[in-house]
Amino acid sequence: MTAQDFVLESYNSNIEKGKVKWSSPSNIALIKYWGKREQQIPENPSISFTLSNCKTITEVTYTKKKTGDFSFNVIFEGKENEAFKPKIQTFFERVEAYVPFLRDYHFTIETSNTFPHSSGIASSASGMSALALCMMSIEEKLTAYEDVISTEQSDEKSQNYFNQKASFLARLGSGSACRSIEGELVVWGQNESTESSDLYGIRFSGEVHSNFKKYQDTILLVDKGEKQVSSTVGHQLMHGHPFAKERFKQAHHNLGKLKAVFASGDLDNFVKIVESEALTLHAMMMTSMPYFILMKPNTLEIINRIWTYRKTNNSHVCFTLDAGANVHVLYPENEKESVLRFIKNELADYCQNKQYITDYVGKGAQFMKN
Ligand code: PMV
Repeated sequence: MTAQDFVLESYNSNIEKGKVKWSSPSNIALIKYWGKREQQIPENPSISFTLSNCKTITEVTYTKKKTGDFSFNVIFEGKENEAFKPKIQTFFERVEAYVPFLRDYHFTIETSNTFPHSSGIASSASGMSALALCMMSIEEKLTAYEDVISTEQSDEKSQNYFNQKASFLARLGSGSACRSIEGELVVWGQNESTESSDLYGIRFSGEVHSNFKKYQDTILLVDKGEKQVSSTVGHQLMHGHPFAKERFKQAHHNLGKLKAVFASGDLDNFVKIVESEALTLHAMMMTSMPYFILMKPNTLEIINRIWTYRKTNNSHVCFTLDAGANVHVLYPENEKESVLRFIKNELADYCQNKQYITDYVGKGAQFMKN
């Protein structure tokens, strides 16, 4: 597929109004995407677990208007919200070439998250993927008549095409959002180990051992404040970064290793690859110019306690980090009870207001009937 394949050529603009609604999850990268080129093309491949509980629910009402400027309003958790508008305006500008009906309708975008607001959890992956899916459902409604005319076209507008284009649009909103459409493992970024594309996320096609079934992710809310560095700035710091080339190479290499780990169920090596990826992401930020330390003292305290617990209990619990201080604690389902006890008794003390969110690997976004 090329970007050109996602351009919508014609649609029925006589449809006056309608409503669509999607719920879309967040995801947590195991191999990290950090560094991008124009049009949100990643510098290296990444792979993530799709989550289940951390979701954005978005309903878009579209009402016909005279063509002209983009027109939309955003209602976040029941209240009119101006702060999200610039990001959505940019999203519309980037995706307009592929969903040309954007100027023909006024959109009311009602959105809410299942996780607490300002928890420090990036809502851009779930938020942008939910919005992209709504746009795809609108595209489907405006082109429904074509399906009847041409079987070839109806083939093209299959589930596969729908998901690929939704992921393609989501990527233009926020890179990692393209990994939130499907589950349970999604690869994004061309590589030699797996079926892949730079343009959209693809379900990991390799073998996955039952050790990874319903893998658990408990998110420890260490710092709920504003991010110190936005991911846009973070990605830019990889331009001219002294270690960038090696890092991009390493991500390819780690993805190959992880593919073998998924097939064999080798949890010891899973832990090594995943923790090393998280620390490398942070190392990139510490060694860029300007430099940043995004971990907090409590992040380090938690990491040390996870290491001690793992050793003492012969456990496979491990951590990963996003570009912030919160810690994702990953563990197999058969350790759920003991690790949750450990989190509650020991790690919760290092979270703001003792807050954490329990989640696990999920199957992807869901269309919601009104
Ligand atoms: O999608 P963005 O541009 O917000 O970048 C997110 C990058 C990381 O979360 C740090 C890593 C990843 O692959 O999700």
